[in-house]
Amino acid sequence: MDPVNRPEEAWRLWGGRPAAVERDEAEDLVRAKMRIVVFGANGRMGAEVCQAVGGQADCEIVAGIDLGDPREAGLSADVAIDFTHPDTVMDNIAWCVDHGINAVVGTSGFTPERLERVRSMVGENPRVGVLIAPNFSIGAVLMMHFAAQAAPYFDSVEIIEAHHTAKADAPSGTAAATARLVAEARSRAGAGPVPDATTHETPGARGAEIDGIRVHSLRLPGLIAQQEVRLGSAGETLTISDDSRSRASFMPGVLQAVRWIGSHPGLTVGLEPVLGLSQGR
Ligand SMILES: NC(=O)c1ccc[n+]([C@@H]2O[C@H](COP(=O)([O-])OP(=O)(O)OC[C@H]3O[C@@H](n4cnc5c(N)ncnc54)[C@H](O)[C@@H]3O)[C@@H](O)[C@H]2O)c1
Repeated sequence: MDPVNRPEEAWRLWGGRPAAVERDEAEDLVRAKMRIVVFGANGRMGAEVCQAVGGQADCEIVAGIDLGDPREAGLSADVAIDFTHPDTVMDNIAWCVDHGINAVVGTSGFTPERLERVRSMVGENPRVGVLIAPNFSIGAVLMMHFAAQAAPYFDSVEIIEAHHTAKADAPSGTAAATARLVAEARSRAGAGPVPDATTHETPGARGAEIDGIRVHSLRLPGLIAQQEVRLGSAGETLTISDDSRSRASFMPGVLQAVRWIGSHPGLTVGLEPVLGLSQGR
């Protein structure tokens, strides 16, 4: 038995721990909590995140930052959580990567080009992990997963998303991600284009087209986030639907991502790897 490699045994042989060491260990335990900075802390999602993270025994919020606050207040953080605005999120990510702070990002508006820019930022500091998820609701992630599984078996797929009227971007990041996953699954399976005989169209009537999949956006007060994926073939339709009724629905996914990101450097897109789901299959 080697007491040097067995600290408990060593303290017993040496007659107990000095009080100073006990104090240091107590401080280490407090420090072992993950330190979190929340960007967009005064927003609807940010406020919910502060409440959820603040209630976790293994996390502490070192700073809640909103418009006009200096980001430096979050310099001691291990993980940043960002629910801000598509116009500011890229700067926030660049700041996190530059300062070696892992980031869990829910802000929407990520195009493939933006993701490529984040990938190259992370490439310059490969110790840092950045997770960008268009949707942290576990129900919504499963809805996307099931939609991609079902898509090759039907002739047609269309997506309808509905959100509150304060949403800045359309279609939602979730709807765009679903369309891409569905299109990829269909292409892998060798499915042809979705049939559509429309020749006369009032602009926008058939929605936006993302990788050949039509996406329709509704904006209504009273909603948080809803999405339906409708699939159709001869004589039948299948509807896969998810309804986030309160912002609390996003918190289990955010917390799982916060605990996961520290051991997963690089860029991760989507909550699927955190949940152990393979994307789009
Ligand atoms: N991924 C998901 O699961 C998910 C779920 C809901 C919302 N969202 C997205 O999250 C984002 C925020 O949504 P919301 O409803 O909370 O919006 P919100 O407008 O209520 O909150 C955004 C907050 O960010 C602040 N902000 C803006 N720029 C900032 C900056 N540079 N630094 C710090 N704070 C800044 C604003 O002042 C505001 O308080 C949106 O892009 C929304 O689409 C994602």
